[in-house]
Amino acid sequence: MFIKPLLFTALTFTALSEAIPLLPRTTYTGDVTYYTPGLGACGLVNTSAQLVAAIGHIAFDSYPGATANPNTNPICGKKVTASYGGHSVTVEIVDRCVGCAGEYDLDLSSTAFSELAPLSVGRLTGVTWEYVA
Ligand SMILES: *[C@@H]1O[C@H](CO)[C@@H](O)[C@H](O)[C@H]1NC(C)=O
Repeated sequence: MFIKPLLFTALTFTALSEAIPLLPRTTYTGDVTYYTPGLGACGLVNTSAQLVAAIGHIAFDSYPGATANPNTNPICGKKVTASYGGHSVTVEIVDRCVGCAGEYDLDLSSTAFSELAPLSVGRLTGVTWEYVA
């Protein structure tokens, strides 16, 4: 009597597990500042109103597939979600942050930064983030 429903549940679970693999996500921690986007290392022109970021030059240059041409760096267009103080924001990587000392520092557009804290704070430390796309 109970075999059919149980079997159905097991098959459904298996099907879902295969359809939605659990992607391992690494969380990085770094400082977050803000800048005025323009023509960035990825070759894109962005603005302060957009949810974009420059990522520390160390992470940018060591990203798998990076070459001497920053425009073709596969990190360009990746999205990261940064979290701080119970707030989070998802930004697109469009630039390489030369002034970022930490490997996992992010420089956000002012619009993105203000989702995490007031601009007057200037620098946030201990911000966690992960690649989401
Ligand atoms: C950044 O700029 C590019 C090129 O103008 C645009 O396609 C992209 O949507 C912008 N990113 C965001 C998050 O607005």
